[in-house]
Amino acid sequence: VAITFIDHAGTARQVEAEPGSTLMRAARDNGIPGVVAECGGMAACATCHVFVEAACLPFTGDMGEDEDALLDFADDRAPNSRLSCQIAITPELDGMTVTTPEHQG
Ligand code: FES
Repeated sequence: VAITFIDHAGTARQVEAEPGSTLMRAARDNGIPGVVAECGGMAACATCHVFVEAACLPFTGDMGEDEDALLDFADDRAPNSRLSCQIAITPELDGMTVTTPEHQG
């Protein structure tokens, strides 16, 4: 599953993510800057915040209450904000682009 991360400066990095993993894992495994994931994927730190390409949002699963509450602490929350540790990698996400926030990491 090919995912492209674009950092705040506009640099794009494409990674290969394993189905069954999470978007946060894929970022960490590939050394993507801007995804810190301090809590290790427990929906408790908000340092894995990303902006998801609008067209792909319907395929990223529902946002949980914890995630919703935590995103209020994330920098620059937007309608397409998600915690990347709460997004499961599925084949439908192939070709998705996500952007990392300016102040993270
Ligand atoms: Fe901490 Fe996602 S890794 S909330």
